[in-house]
Amino acid sequence: ATGLRDLAAAKGVYFGTAATVGEWNDATYKALGAREANMLTPGNEMKWDTTEPNPGQFNFGPADSLVASAAAANQRVRGHTLVWHSQAPSWVQNLGASDLRQAMLNHINTEVTHYKGKLYSWDVVNEAFNDDGTRRQSFWEQKLGDGYIADAFRATHAVDPGAKLYYNDYNTDGIGAKSDAVYAMVKSFKQQGVPIDGVGLQAHLILGQVPSSMQQNIQRFVDLGVEVAITELDVRMNTPATPDKLATQATDYATVANACLTVTGCVGITTWGLSDKYSWIPSTFPGQGAALPFDENFQSKPAYDSLVKAY
Ligand code: XIL
Repeated sequence: ATGLRDLAAAKGVYFGTAATVGEWNDATYKALGAREANMLTPGNEMKWDTTEPNPGQFNFGPADSLVASAAAANQRVRGHTLVWHSQAPSWVQNLGASDLRQAMLNHINTEVTHYKGKLYSWDVVNEAFNDDGTRRQSFWEQKLGDGYIADAFRATHAVDPGAKLYYNDYNTDGIGAKSDAVYAMVKSFKQQGVPIDGVGLQAHLILGQVPSSMQQNIQRFVDLGVEVAITELDVRMNTPATPDKLATQATDYATVANACLTVTGCVGITTWGLSDKYSWIPSTFPGQGAALPFDENFQSKPAYDSLVKAY
């Protein structure tokens, strides 16, 4: 059967999804993933709280299982994520500056070594900026200062020079204060020789609110000499869904897909799940949902048809 993965491949790009070990226990869903996606992002399994729950005690079992099933489905893998303020164990958050720096480097060395040669990319640093373009005052920033981002990229590159190294964030999809700040950082990394290969635009979008400057934003990053990926696309609405809302959502998906497909250097789109049965939205944004291309019964929605058409 033809899926989005085949349509994307014919255009020289990929179509991916996020999934967790638990979700892949649903054989019907896993088969849908194998049909539609040729790129996989572990939804939680490569995050610090899973991979190093206690100092120096590493747990790669859950992510290994996803990497193995991705290989079996002929899918590549986006590693997500090494350095993030969220889903970080309290032992990390409570370290003093010099121990935190050591812990970051040790975590990167160990996890990146474990997956060396097996991943398409790493989201090295996730969500380091505020919406106004200032640095998020996370424990990383407060203890290590601005330089931790470049240090994390250098450390990752030193271990796995073959993986594409990404900076990944949300509310950076269109041009604005936050994407301007990411743009300035990437530009300075390029000037200083800090190894960065890509910018991930999460694209956790709200119905009817795809930024009109998305294509222009993608283009300006590509013009800096990095690739761009849409890394976590979903389009949430107030539930219940109605035919009108689903039609708007279909337009939104098409707008995003076309923005990426129009720019050479936008290498692929990943949705943050495929089915509304397994989406992070309802628990994170109460009253909202129906954000993905398949409904809770794995029936394709207008958004899916719209993606097919865009490809
Ligand atoms: C989400 C997962 O989907 C949830 O299961 C988890 O409880 C919280 O994190 N931005 C990111 C992703 O970079 O890692 C987040 O994933 C969604 C927002």
